[in-house]
Amino acid sequence: MNDVLKLAFVGCGSIAKAHLAGIEQYAPRVRVTALIDPDPKAAARFVQRTNGTYYATLDEALKRGDFDAVDIMVPHDLHEELSLLALQAGKHLLLEKPMAPTLQACDRILNCAKESGLVFAVAENAQFWPEIMEVDRLIRTGVIGEVITAKASFWVQYEPGDLKPRTPWRLDRDRTGGGITIDGGSHWLRPLRIWMGEITDVIAAVDHPLRSMQGESLVHALVKFQSGRIGSFDALNVDSVLAPAEWWRVTGTRGEIVVEGGFQSKIVRSQGQKIKIYDEYNPEGNVVMDQGNGYQASFGLEIADFASAILDGSELSASAEYSLGELRTALAMYKSVESGEWERVWD
Ligand SMILES: NC(=O)c1ccc[n+]([C@@H]2O[C@H](COP(=O)([O-])OP(=O)(O)OC[C@H]3O[C@@H](n4cnc5c(N)ncnc54)[C@H](O)[C@@H]3O)[C@@H](O)[C@H]2O)c1
Repeated sequence: MNDVLKLAFVGCGSIAKAHLAGIEQYAPRVRVTALIDPDPKAAARFVQRTNGTYYATLDEALKRGDFDAVDIMVPHDLHEELSLLALQAGKHLLLEKPMAPTLQACDRILNCAKESGLVFAVAENAQFWPEIMEVDRLIRTGVIGEVITAKASFWVQYEPGDLKPRTPWRLDRDRTGGGITIDGGSHWLRPLRIWMGEITDVIAAVDHPLRSMQGESLVHALVKFQSGRIGSFDALNVDSVLAPAEWWRVTGTRGEIVVEGGFQSKIVRSQGQKIKIYDEYNPEGNVVMDQGNGYQASFGLEIADFASAILDGSELSASAEYSLGELRTALAMYKSVESGEWERVWD
């Protein structure tokens, strides 16, 4: 068995920076040997940092490159085509969320991966976010008693005009499959699923305060979990001025756990994420974790998990099928906006 995983970056844009930083810090067995992007300028800094080889297309890299796996980080409308190409060429696949904008496209990728016998993971970094894991542990130790409800708030402030020049495809509904819910919203929904169990039903309303974004830039939604409990998910992208906001609040019979957070423009830097517990002994809130920016760490841990599944045959922390949960929740929210009714997530 090899002890090094040779990885090709397919797409060298914003999130590739976080993936490379994560590999450098947390995934020592991963070597980035190929950098693929139609824009050579985008790839240049990665080529320099990794000593990998540049290719303009995945097709060309598959013919001439030397790698075992691909890490696909491109706009959502390209996920299916590039994933199938890589799998059919025998490459293990790490694919940024969402798997694809439609469930039909996801089925095609999943079927192809199953037939190939290769490792396929969807890069949902919230699964590896240290603060999220710590909240899970705290809930299980019973510090807040029995859980009653949980609330996720993905509030992001952009500078006016910030998003358009950086990732214009994100403003185009045909390219993303929707708006903030199907996109960054997944990282706020995964923690709810980890802590509260599967989401079964949703009802949502949306609005479009960020005028340049075709998809929704504001959503307020209620979610029902398999346990019968209810929670909420809110998300906002806006080029206004926002006060600091907490990202999650989990309420139990004996207290609350709050994850403070906040992204900060200019280039959407995330701040430290403090975890606080409020209970009868700590009415002002007791800080139980304040280690800085776990969000950034999550990317390296995610890639190390993928590498270990290939190199050691270990089980992925979350299967590709499990990642359909956030996508199905987003699609059910969109359906609910049309119907004005509660919609099922899994039927
Ligand atoms: N996990 C997270 O926190 C997180 C955050 C941001 C983005 N993402 C996901 O990462 C993916 C990419 O988003 P981004 O923000 O990095 O976008 P981006 O626009 O910054 O980068 C995409 C890159 O892909 C390149 N590209 C386009 N077509 C290509 C092709 N055919 N082959 C190879 N490269 C191609 C573009 O030139 C660009 O450099 C999306 O799926 C997005 O949802 C995840």
